[in-house]
Amino acid sequence: MTTAVLHESGAGAGAGSGTGAEAPTGEWSIWPASTTRLAHGAVAVGGVPLTEVADRFDTPAYVLDEGEVRSRCRSYRAAFPEADVLYAAKAFLSRAMVRWVQEEGLGLDVCSAGELELAVTAGFPPGQIVLHGNAKSPRDIEAALRLGVGRIVIDSASEIARIAAALGPRERQKVMLRVVPGISAGGHDKIRTGTDGQKFGLSLTDGGAQHAVARILGQPQLELTGLHCHIGSQITEVKPYLVALRRMVGLMARIRDAHGVVLPELDMGGGHGIGYRPGEPTLDLTALARRMRAELRDSCAAAGLAVPRLAVEPGRAVAGPAGVAVYRVLAVKHTGGCVFVAVDGGMSDNPRPALYGVRYAPRLIGRRSTAAPRTTTVVGRHCEAGDILAADVELPGDVHPGDLLAVPVSGAYQLSMASGYNLVGRPAVVAVHEGRARLLVRRETLEDFRNRDIGG
Ligand code: LLP
Repeated sequence: MTTAVLHESGAGAGAGSGTGAEAPTGEWSIWPASTTRLAHGAVAVGGVPLTEVADRFDTPAYVLDEGEVRSRCRSYRAAFPEADVLYAAKAFLSRAMVRWVQEEGLGLDVCSAGELELAVTAGFPPGQIVLHGNAKSPRDIEAALRLGVGRIVIDSASEIARIAAALGPRERQKVMLRVVPGISAGGHDKIRTGTDGQKFGLSLTDGGAQHAVARILGQPQLELTGLHCHIGSQITEVKPYLVALRRMVGLMARIRDAHGVVLPELDMGGGHGIGYRPGEPTLDLTALARRMRAELRDSCAAAGLAVPRLAVEPGRAVAGPAGVAVYRVLAVKHTGGCVFVAVDGGMSDNPRPALYGVRYAPRLIGRRSTAAPRTTTVVGRHCEAGDILAADVELPGDVHPGDLLAVPVSGAYQLSMASGYNLVGRPAVVAVHEGRARLLVRRETLEDFRNRDIGG
């Protein structure tokens, strides 16, 4: 559906006038590049007013800007022309997403039979998929082998024999080994995976990684193509990647010395950080690519190693900024000196503030307010006091039930971590592109819950 767009000529309040899109700056810098401000406080993404999305698809609605996803994929392809860029499906996956990343020339990183089957049944070439997981179930391994996944990343010693045993006598599977390089990086304790003492990977320091390499090389059905590491998530500096890369190349050199095997691939994982609020740091993709390339070249030269093919696995940086969550205000309460604005979603569609203390920047959309801003806490509708979406944010003082609030940077790790709490149901996902909106994933209904609940 296309609606005539009238752009404002100036930032902030004022009567709409003039033509032409305003380049988002300041508070709009974290919104999709296609975002335009329309008359009367309306906001369009992908050429579609968010009020229209709310009217057509109801709220909460997760709006995904196809153009933003595609242009983020292209930025990665341009920054890493010589590398494999694998989209980390755990950030957000749907069949349309599978198609977009494939069309833009990315591979895929999945971590369950579910993600894998969804991608392959949506047409993604299995050979360009890498399967991760610290505890792969028999079903994960069976699906990976049946569908012909490109690489399985071994995450614990016991997996080596399990995968080998699941292969027929003449079958072979390419595998990588997840190594813990001993680097602490990431936006929160719960998403730091580069050091010993957490559940992922095999240690570089206690010999676990070297031991696993020897065991893999001893299995004729497994072809070890390279090493993998993922040091954490929401990392905004390049340095930890360079240190990790140096250590990984060091291990590759030791593997060559010990076994005479030169591994052709090195997967440095994802974790590339983005800003959730205006002014927050973002990992500089171009600098990351340039400096990783230089570090790889130099470390390999120093070790006398051929330069392996590099892979990176961004999830958040592809999907996060392309998503906008749209909620309707259900209640406003003044209590204990606070103003609570309660919306029709909450921790069941976005557990991230509760889990990691992440701060978001919601804003009123759909009407222009001239009321003075007031410090407000946006809460969800769930039966838990910790169901806070955004504490202490500035919203117009006249926000009232029926208003729409939009939360930018909602495309990653929100819906993919959504729950069935309170049987509220997971929101609809709506793609917007070039003035059109279409439903990608329908809203979860009471019927869905009833269908699963067969106990009677
Ligand atoms: N590769 C591997 C092996 C991973 O485990 C992950 C994320 C990625 C790539 C992609 O990382 P990204 O580029 O998206 O940071 N739920 C948390 C994030 C958990 C990340 C898990 N692994 C959050 O909401 O912040």
